[in-house]
Amino acid sequence: MTAGGKARDKLREAHARKRRTCAGGKNTGKIVLVIRETFVTTPGGRTRVLEAGAGWPVVLLHAFPLSADMWRPQLERVADGWRLVAPDLRGLGEGAAAPAGTTSIDDLAAGVEAVLDALRIETAAIGGLSMGGYVTFALFRRSPARFNAVVLADTKASADTPEGREGRQKMLDLVRREGPAAVANQMIPKLLGETSRRDRPQLEEPVRQMIEANHSEGIAGAIEAMLNRPDSTPLLARMSCPVLIIVGSEDTLTPPVESEAMQQRMERSRLVVLPAAGHLSNLETPDAFSQALADFLASNL
Ligand code: MLT
Repeated sequence: MTAGGKARDKLREAHARKRRTCAGGKNTGKIVLVIRETFVTTPGGRTRVLEAGAGWPVVLLHAFPLSADMWRPQLERVADGWRLVAPDLRGLGEGAAAPAGTTSIDDLAAGVEAVLDALRIETAAIGGLSMGGYVTFALFRRSPARFNAVVLADTKASADTPEGREGRQKMLDLVRREGPAAVANQMIPKLLGETSRRDRPQLEEPVRQMIEANHSEGIAGAIEAMLNRPDSTPLLARMSCPVLIIVGSEDTLTPPVESEAMQQRMERSRLVVLPAAGHLSNLETPDAFSQALADFLASNL
């Protein structure tokens, strides 16, 4: 079995353990352990979608180089009246087909549109974390009428700097040469904040499993998409619906200063800085992230 296959099996086992706990009827207070997994057919191939709750749809797009599984803490904590929908982005996540040709940020956004169409979701609160935020911008550029609110977590509007593009090119070479495990080694210390690396070492393994469950080609496609994405700064002033901006105080990849810069350009935005969280703020401080999301949705929609 390949390393990716083993990582996917481990991930499945971990989720199955959680499902068994749920079937055992353990009451964990606010935590909802029923996460629905479906597959929809999109032009990019079969796409996995995780969902929880019922009501108004909230679509959450994942970071690089992860999958929809990163939203499990929020799916488990879905607030009453909301239907959380987390699709895998093209080429990533369990069972994803390797993307053919080069991938653009618009390809990733088109995949999300196809998922929303398949699920008959016309409008939703839509957002993402980091790369998921870049895809949110692309989706807004393509179809602003789909949005009734925006969530931008640990992300930025600007395109890559020349140094950033150089770094992406190196990572592209790395994943093609050494595979997802090498990318995991390089990314994990940047994805998790200082407090998590010191006090929550148990977070590292699930993040590693998510990365290693991806194909090299899917990771390479996402790097290409980010490398060539346009500057979305001009879009900010056009986002006239309510916007939640969330960032971990210890995020070094897209630091709070980027979130502040976005907020200044968006009239109806609210900024929440989560203490003791790094770039993967939703995984590192899941209660605080989910609370910020629930408060925003309750007061704006
Ligand atoms: C992500 O978390 O999606 C990436 O770190 C984003 C990026 O590299 O720009």
